[in-house]
Order: sequence, then structure tokens, then C-alpha cells
Amino acid sequence: MSDSCARPLRIVLLGPPASGKGTQGRHLAGNLGLGYLSTGALLREQVESRSELGKLAEPILERGGYLPDDLMCRILADWLGRQSGGWVLDGFPRSLPQADFLDEWLAAHDQSVTFAVSLEVPYEQLVSRIRHRVECPECRWSGQADFNKHCPACGALVLPRADDSEENFNNRHQEFLRLTGPVIARYQDAGKLITFDATAPQDEVSSKLLARFSEALV
Ligand code: AP5
Repeated sequence: MSDSCARPLRIVLLGPPASGKGTQGRHLAGNLGLGYLSTGALLREQVESRSELGKLAEPILERGGYLPDDLMCRILADWLGRQSGGWVLDGFPRSLPQADFLDEWLAAHDQSVTFAVSLEVPYEQLVSRIRHRVECPECRWSGQADFNKHCPACGALVLPRADDSEENFNNRHQEFLRLTGPVIARYQDAGKLITFDATAPQDEVSSKLLARFSEALV
């Protein structure tokens, strides 16, 4: 989809760690022809390539903290400036300063967030997903270890994520409640929030989400 369409969709995906933001974000963007950015995947790539950004990010990712807002906003400004149509953002904004930045950047370009989606999954289910998660180091596909030793998308050997210890997950979850909770409340107040039960099997959640946004396009 491009800006020449009547309603370019700009979707922000919110939710705790392992709620399915990456899984659903890639699916939605692929099926609706939208741009897609996972800030977490971008940071993990930088860590693995030992870039300056990666060296700065590594200790923060290791303890499950958030990177500084100003740094993340610069990364987003660069990415947004290269988009020509709608998109799905997975992992941004994660704090009120990031939400302010996004609103201001979009307003300055005559754009706005269309919907914010809050994926809701109980804590125990999140922990179970984290225990079994694997990620493809080549194409960033992510799934459950029980079923996949090789990436179904590109065939590379899949691995557990370095930040998927239970302690790291707990830290990320705390940061989510403390810093991202207010962002969800902000989108609710603005009438842009869609809360979505994301406990059903992955394909079911994908179909329902896709149906919800396909409606928004007509
Ligand atoms: P990020 O990668 O965004 O981590 P996160 O928010 O903790 O989320 P996860 O990637 O853990 O989970 P997800 O919701 O994407 O779930 P997934 O689809 O993988 O960020 C990592 C770090 O980067 C942050 O901690 C922070 O340090 C930093 N960072 C990133 N953005 C930042 C920002 N804006 N500001 C500051 N710092 C930032 O699914 C999880 C598993 O469950 C998978 O195995 C999947 O197959 C499975 N699954 C998914 N859906 C279902 C389902 N319906 N049923 C069963 N299994 C399912």
C-alpha cells in the first residue's frame, strides 16, 4: 500500500515481551503490503555485527532494560523518513517521550498513527512462550523450539535468543508495565487503541487481526 491510497495504515503494536508483536507484526505487514520495523530485532542485529550502536545496546539488552529515548527516536526518524506508505511499528513507542516524538514527527509530515494495538496475554503464558522461543539469526523469523530446528523461512539453524532468560524476561516485563503502560493509556485516551486477546493459537490471532485491519482498508 502507498500514500496514494485513501487510507495508509500506520499501526503501532504494543504488548509485553512474548505477546506476539514480532510474529503478528511481520504477518500483518506482509499481508497488507506495509513497511515493518522491529526495533528489538534491529538492535539484536547491531549487537551481532559489533557496530558502535550494538556495543552500546548489548549491556542494556543483557539486563532487559530500555535504550535511551533520544537514541531510539533518532533511529526512528531515520527509518520513518525512508517510508513512502503505511507501516507497522513493533516495539516503538515504548515510553511517553517516544510517543511524543512519534506524534510530533508524524504531525510535521501531515501523518498520524491510525491504530495502536495492545496484544494481551497473561503472565504465565508469556513465560511459557519465552522458555521455548527460538529466533533465526539470518532473517529474524521467530517461533517455538519444539517444532523448529531450522528456520522455515530461510533454512538457517535457529537459536534461543540471548535475552530470553527468565530473569531478563522479568526485567523487561517490569519495564513494560512501568514505561509502556502509560503509552497504552495515552492511545486509549486518544481513541486509537484496539485491545486484542492474543492467547489463541498463532494462526487464529493472525487471521483475526488481519480481518480487523482489512476492514479498515475498505
Ligand atoms: P523486543 O525484541 O521488542 O522485545 P520485547 O518487547 O521484549 O518482545 P519480544 O520480542 O520478547 O516478544 P514479541 O512480543 O515480539 O513476541 P514474539 O512474536 O517473538 O526488544 C528487545 C529489547 O530491545 C528490549 O528489551 C529493549 O532493551 C530494546 N528496545 C527495543 N525497542 C526499544 C525502544 N523503542 N526503546 C528502548 N529500548 C528498546 O512471540 C514470542 C514467542 O511466542 C515466539 O516463540 C512465538 O512463536 C510465540 N507465539 C507468538 N504468538 C503465539 C500464540 N498466539 N500462541 C503461541 N505461541 C505464540
